[in-house]
Amino acid sequence: MVKIAPSILAADFLSLERDVRVVNDHADLLHFDVMDGSLVPNLSFGFPVLDAVAKVAAIPLDVHLMIINPDKYIERFAKAGASLISFHLEAADEAGKDAEEYISIARACGVKAGLAINPDVPVERLFPYIPEVDFFLIMSVFAGFGGQKFIPGSIGRIAALKAEMERIGIVKDIEVDGGVSAANSRALIDAGATMLVAGSSVFKADDPVEAIAQMRL
Ligand code: DX5
Ligand code: ZN
Repeated sequence: MVKIAPSILAADFLSLERDVRVVNDHADLLHFDVMDGSLVPNLSFGFPVLDAVAKVAAIPLDVHLMIINPDKYIERFAKAGASLISFHLEAADEAGKDAEEYISIARACGVKAGLAINPDVPVERLFPYIPEVDFFLIMSVFAGFGGQKFIPGSIGRIAALKAEMERIGIVKDIEVDGGVSAANSRALIDAGATMLVAGSSVFKADDPVEAIAQMRL
């Protein structure tokens, strides 16, 4: 069954505990977006907030690192309670490194390693990593901000990645992030997505629990 990962970027930070508790019994993962103002043109939050969230989260923490040099921080995020950590292929490009290095560090820390790409990175660039990663994260908006409009071409990119996995006989999880809601969840699941990140469509909904349920239909 598909995993729903509400993104607390869209939560009410003055009532963060309440918002985490609202999704605790209904979602599968809690998505935590870390931005550094360098890899993406925005800042979000880091360790102190994760420490607080970890105290009340009853579901695994899914940390999405939109930062350069993620290798410097993977271990700290793992120690802070992350169960899944994703980092961007673009970060590896910028550092002149192979993303394989980040995958190994995450694995050594005992967390699930995810490799993310923005919508302008050819999806074929992920193919060599299929045997190595635990999951891929396909951005369906440009990373950096919540509340953006879903890019429909993302569905074909997920399908292409899924097709390649099936071709080589190694199937891994595919997470999709950005503009996800009940309006596109079925198409994303049919294309091969197994984890849906949803910020605005959950936390800005009148009924977040119902919004999560709708995405599973
Ligand atoms: C964007 C973040 C997303 C964001 C999604 O850079 O990676 O996780 O929270 O927010 P929505 O669902 O509002 O597009
Ligand atoms: Zn994210």
